[in-house]
Amino acid sequence: MNALVLLGPPGAGKGTVANVLVDKGYKHISTGDILRKQIRMETPVGREAGALIDRGRFVSDAVAVDMIQQLLDSSEPSEKFLLDGFPRTLKQAESFEQLIFSHEVKFDGVILLKCSPEILVERISGRRTCEICGTVYHVKFNPPSRGDVCDIDGSKLVERADDNGEILKERIEVYLKRTAPLVEFYKNRNLLYPIDASMSIEEVRNAVREYVSGH
Ligand code: AP5
Repeated sequence: MNALVLLGPPGAGKGTVANVLVDKGYKHISTGDILRKQIRMETPVGREAGALIDRGRFVSDAVAVDMIQQLLDSSEPSEKFLLDGFPRTLKQAESFEQLIFSHEVKFDGVILLKCSPEILVERISGRRTCEICGTVYHVKFNPPSRGDVCDIDGSKLVERADDNGEILKERIEVYLKRTAPLVEFYKNRNLLYPIDASMSIEEVRNAVREYVSGH
């Protein structure tokens, strides 16, 4: 198995660049998407996660690590994963190192999307997501072609519950406190590939393509 990590603050564009890596054979695993599905299904994990996500907080490290352990336990050696949103704390990064070892995963690296808080706020406040297939749009930077419906399946576009002002502020603060230390952690391991994510969607995607072609 192979794993590549996408690291970056809320709204930096992790989900938006993922398709470049999917085209290279990676399976996109967004822990946020998995948790939102659990919330919709009203599972015990979903009930716990819903209360935390709605306040801009992280779910416990144990829950996050368990999601990835289950994924690796049930996967074939030939599979390649793009981890979007995991690891998110030093504890998760350390547990991930153990999982990599026990599951014989080749760690392909960490792409860091760097972006200032002002840009994040503008991106997140204009984000619209298809309530059925999860495709992400932006009212200004990546609008749907037909009004307020998804280009792919015609379903309604909605705003994410945790995308409002106060919660977003909290998410950025939690990122700076708990996730930003991973930048140094992976830099020290020579695994970090930083990209300036303040560029346009296509420019950021091209920078990711450049990374992939060089590895
Ligand atoms: P998650 O869903 O992972 O949210 P996030 O990390 O906050 O990231 P986002 O999905 O908000 O942003 P993104 O970087 O993917 O940006 P996007 O591409 O959509 O997690 C949600 C919650 O789940 C967490 O807060 C936490 O509570 C919990 N959780 C998840 N994993 C966890 C873990 N491991 N441990 C503990 N808790 C966990 O782009 C944003 C907008 O900008 C879009 O509208 C897009 O069209 C636009 N855009 C993107 N790129 C550009 C660009 N270059 N130029 C202009 N516009 C752009």
